[in-house]
Amino acid sequence: MKISFREAVKQLKLGNVVAVPTETVYGLAASIENSHSVQKIFFHKKRPQDNPLIVHIANIRQLHDIVTEIPEAFYKLKSFWPGPLTIVFKANKKTVPSVVRAGLDTVAVRMPKHELFIRLLKQTGPLAAPSANLSGKPSATSVKHVHTDFGLDFPVLDGGRTHYGVESTVIQLKKSGWQYLRAGAISETSLQQILGPSLKTKTSQKRPRTPGAKYKHYSPAAKLTFCASSSLLKRKSHSSKFDAVLGFSDTTTTLPLLSLGPRNRHIQNLKNLYQRLRQIDELHFQTVLVDGDITAKGLGITLLERLQKACGST
Ligand code: TXA
Ligand code: MG
Repeated sequence: MKISFREAVKQLKLGNVVAVPTETVYGLAASIENSHSVQKIFFHKKRPQDNPLIVHIANIRQLHDIVTEIPEAFYKLKSFWPGPLTIVFKANKKTVPSVVRAGLDTVAVRMPKHELFIRLLKQTGPLAAPSANLSGKPSATSVKHVHTDFGLDFPVLDGGRTHYGVESTVIQLKKSGWQYLRAGAISETSLQQILGPSLKTKTSQKRPRTPGAKYKHYSPAAKLTFCASSSLLKRKSHSSKFDAVLGFSDTTTTLPLLSLGPRNRHIQNLKNLYQRLRQIDELHFQTVLVDGDITAKGLGITLLERLQKACGST
């Protein structure tokens, strides 16, 4: 059910959960003022309790309320806020309930670049919000996706189709430097341009992971098979085992093709990704080949990671 802005403010203040638009994906939001409200998010999403949530803020004043320390190094990243960058800080345990943090001493924070959402946050105060999908499923990039997962009666603030179509990048400052915890809408290269060698790249880290990374992610019900090269995809395409291909406009196949747009147009490909992954189930395809022949540079790294996860590799 689409609800008005006023109704969204009212429901959130009453301690209820509302799906909200952001520039990345839709979020399932609740006020952090009440752990009971946040608990409802875990219930709706069927989310494991040990996977912490991102807290969204409208301004730096709200940041001061929820963290105990803002490291000097943070100010270098100011140009990314508002925007799709989530930064992990030391949490103020008085204002950020344990359920939001999954018991950790830290809190992941993001200042979104979405006019409607920022306006909402100014009225409600900080909101905890994971992506608005059932745990394990592809994230929601439209109201329709939210309704598919949570039912037509679920309250959603409509902000149209999301701009990036993929989640924020998550980073954390550790003693050894900035750690890249989750690939997302901001590439490692863009961050490195600002942070230089103090950002540990994915390849130099043993396990760049958020607590959530151990869980199944972004997967349709269909079985997806990842093909790292076009020749492998071609060979597999000829077997009668597969119903369709998730690929690009130049993917050669005789099977039905769900296209992410032109190959290596990573921004466009990511914007289409979850919509296409969800279409696989809508069209009742059961076995799908995935064209993974992508340049692993910039946002290509995010795209590859999401495709591999959708295929079931962790
Ligand atoms: O773009 C986004 O980030 C969207 C929109 C709604 O803001 N949100 C989102 O939330 O993707 P979610 O819950 O699907 O993913 C949050 C990720 C998880 O992998 C979680 O483990 C990690 O952030 N995370 C949350 N709190 C953390 C913390 N204190 N330390 C390390 N990782 C944390
Ligand atoms: Mg998620």
